[in-house]
Amino acid sequence: MNTYTQSLGQVVTVLGSQWGDEGKGKLIDVISEQYEIIARAAGGANAGHTIYIKDPQNPSEQLKFIFHLIPSGIFNENTTCVIGNGVVLELPTLMEEIDLLNDHGVKTEGRIFISDRTHLLFKYHRIIDGIQEEMKGEKKVGTTKRGIGPCYTDKIRRNGIRVHDLLNFEVFEKKYRANLEMFKHMYSDFGHGADTELAELKEIAERIRPMIIESSHFLNKAIEDGKKILIEGANGAMLDIDHGTYPFVTSSNSTVAGVISGTGIAATKLNNVIGIMKAYTTRVGAGPFPTELFDGLGKQIQETGGEYGATTGRPRRCGWFDAFVGKYSTTINGFTEVNLTKLDVLSGIPTLQIATGYKYMDEQLDSFPSSLEILENVDIDYIEMPGWTEDISGVRNYDDLPEAARKYVEKIEELIGCRVASIGVGVAREDMIFR
Ligand code: GDP
Ligand code: IMO
Ligand code: MG
Repeated sequence: MNTYTQSLGQVVTVLGSQWGDEGKGKLIDVISEQYEIIARAAGGANAGHTIYIKDPQNPSEQLKFIFHLIPSGIFNENTTCVIGNGVVLELPTLMEEIDLLNDHGVKTEGRIFISDRTHLLFKYHRIIDGIQEEMKGEKKVGTTKRGIGPCYTDKIRRNGIRVHDLLNFEVFEKKYRANLEMFKHMYSDFGHGADTELAELKEIAERIRPMIIESSHFLNKAIEDGKKILIEGANGAMLDIDHGTYPFVTSSNSTVAGVISGTGIAATKLNNVIGIMKAYTTRVGAGPFPTELFDGLGKQIQETGGEYGATTGRPRRCGWFDAFVGKYSTTINGFTEVNLTKLDVLSGIPTLQIATGYKYMDEQLDSFPSSLEILENVDIDYIEMPGWTEDISGVRNYDDLPEAARKYVEKIEELIGCRVASIGVGVAREDMIFR
């Protein structure tokens, strides 16, 4: 524990501030020892949150875990994990994660709770995700094909099926079959047999019965009782359905709004809102990416940073840090501080660039554009910063960073208008500088 994590408030939110994969899972894991409850608020198994822990059998080795649904605080045995009502939940994936944890000796019984209002995601959602992507052809979003969009569509269309429906399986089955019929009319018969999935879900329903709670009541009661809560965001601000690069976004609010609606915790109860920002930018899937690098340097960052999707394995597109994006996401989320991650990956690049703003038809833009046509044709203002050659992965005190690295961090703070309170310098828990 350090003075920074000790200084954090009772309800802390961790959010992605770029296009996802900023390193949310790692910070959650690192600071979770301070929290009794860790809650996921939005998104689904499109998220892939990576955690490295010391192998208990062989402490010189690190074990890698990727969670899609289970909150990343699960390795801290004193925490209770909650899957909030804003999540779209694919139960077999959750069960696989629970089994994996149990196989590694991590006790999950009595530690994982699911909101009764959480919408269930089924195999037909995955199939429809694939069909819709195909129908879009060249305009496809490049989704994770995890069924996220179709499941949220059901929620908004008001034919979604929620976790509490499982408690009466007969009623649940009727709703499931009615939806499937409707989709077969909408998309022609896509050959999905319901019986196998229903049989699997019937078994799972019994397993999760004791985990189902009214989560908003649970979380608000915990706050009243003085318990500390950490909320784990998924995806990233630029993938937000309202504020991101629409339509190349996910189907939920991955900004702070999704935390409030996805947990039932009031905005006035949120203390720190920590933005996770990679020291450069990555994006997986299609859509505009103004600072993307198409040369060997982009490839070098991809290799050094291990930039391959945690959910799909797709190579992540890489580019310079975009402070126009950073300032935008800081503003719409109200970040109280930033965790700058993967600074170590930039070691050895002689000159670094940071985007400070965009121009369109020679006019300086004062806000992030909504139109893709504009976004795809902006001229970017860059500043250059000298790089550093030292390996910084062993640095633990800010003052021990090379001067160029400190100047880079401080320039980012100035441009985004938010304090960088912590810096990631490697994948392991201890590879972190707290200021
Ligand atoms: P998330 O979705 O935001 O949790 O991020 P991902 O797990 O998808 O991707 C982040 C990747 O960067 C993971 O492989 C992490 O292990 C890794 N990572 C996180 N922080 C750092 C860091 O400071 N330095 C390095 N080198 N890797 C990091
Ligand atoms: P974490 O939580 C990176 C991207 C997909 C695609 C778009 C829509 O690990 O940061 P979807 O399957 O949600 O309909 O896909 O959003 N995307 C992510 N990219 N990290 C994520 O989550 C993402 N979740 C969705 O690649 O471009
Ligand atoms: Mg990820």
